[in-house]
Amino acid sequence: MKIVITGGAGFIGMHLTQSLMNKGYQVSIIDCFHTYYSTDRKKQHLKEIQFPARDLYEVDLIDREKTKAIIHKLKPDAVIHLAALPGVAYSLEEPLKYVDYDIKATINIIEACGEAGVKRLLFASSSSVYGDKPGRALKEEDADGMTISPYAASKWSAESFCHMYAHMFDMHVNILRFFTVYGPWGRPDMAIPKFISKLLKNESISIFGSDSGRDYTYIDDIVHGIQLTLQKGKRGETYNLGSGRVVKMTSLLEILRPHFPEMNVHYDTYRMGDVISTHSDISKAELHLGYSPTTTIEDGIGNTILWAKQNEKHL
Ligand SMILES: NC(=O)c1ccc[n+]([C@@H]2O[C@H](COP(=O)([O-])OP(=O)(O)OC[C@H]3O[C@@H](n4cnc5c(N)ncnc54)[C@H](O)[C@@H]3O)[C@@H](O)[C@H]2O)c1
Repeated sequence: MKIVITGGAGFIGMHLTQSLMNKGYQVSIIDCFHTYYSTDRKKQHLKEIQFPARDLYEVDLIDREKTKAIIHKLKPDAVIHLAALPGVAYSLEEPLKYVDYDIKATINIIEACGEAGVKRLLFASSSSVYGDKPGRALKEEDADGMTISPYAASKWSAESFCHMYAHMFDMHVNILRFFTVYGPWGRPDMAIPKFISKLLKNESISIFGSDSGRDYTYIDDIVHGIQLTLQKGKRGETYNLGSGRVVKMTSLLEILRPHFPEMNVHYDTYRMGDVISTHSDISKAELHLGYSPTTTIEDGIGNTILWAKQNEKHL
């Protein structure tokens, strides 16, 4: 099976690519090595998984014609669209970039797929589309467009374009809403990698809102969920891929503490755009896909710290 992964040089993309290649899929990557975080780091990702240079297309999906040309040339069986500008904080500074990278680029890749006759597309959306609805596990139908950051609004809009093009091109599209993904090679702008990187250097860490909570999902569980969707996703469905559990910030600190007993924490107030808590209801993914996340937060954090200690120069 021929698969194109957009954003394959990123955090989730590298792990997904490696896993699919190991299973015998023929994988091509489209990535522009966006400077949101270090391009050297993204190149290192591909080195780590020994990704063949001949299957890498260094193109920005904002270029509509180049995107169409690659998809026409490759004619894959499926496209997994991970490429995006991530991050809530930066989206408040540069909202229009998110219209380009998270909406326009998504339109370009789906349109290219539709015109080339690609029948299967998976789109990486985010838990942020739920907006701020703390206190309960959220089902897919709880999203109502009431977002609180430009990043989330762009993902919500891109989801809507996915539905529209799925109808127009008679395409089998699935939308996956990932909940805070972490693990080895985790994105350096996110809380867990940032904390571990600072703690290894004996620097203090900053907490924005001590009663916040996140549904942290280990990278292997996300990769498994994406593959299950590829095999069993029902046409037109949206799936939450989370752990199904909330870890409060206070609990996360207690999980980190045995690894870093000297830990110094600086408490700050909430940041604009951040939701207080995220919590996935994963019952639809369990039922349709057989999705069942297995990594506990304690094990996941342990694996991530081990990786970080062995890769300090890449943090
Ligand atoms: N990591 C998480 O916790 C998380 C949570 C929810 C949703 N997501 C979504 O999952 C996807 C992957 O996230 P990630 O954490 O691996 O991010 P990442 O930044 O590590 O990877 C994204 C990759 O896309 C590439 N890219 C961006 N815009 C591009 C464009 N126009 N053309 C070509 N390549 C482009 C970047 O260079 C990067 O390599 C994103 O869509 C993100 O919004 C991630």
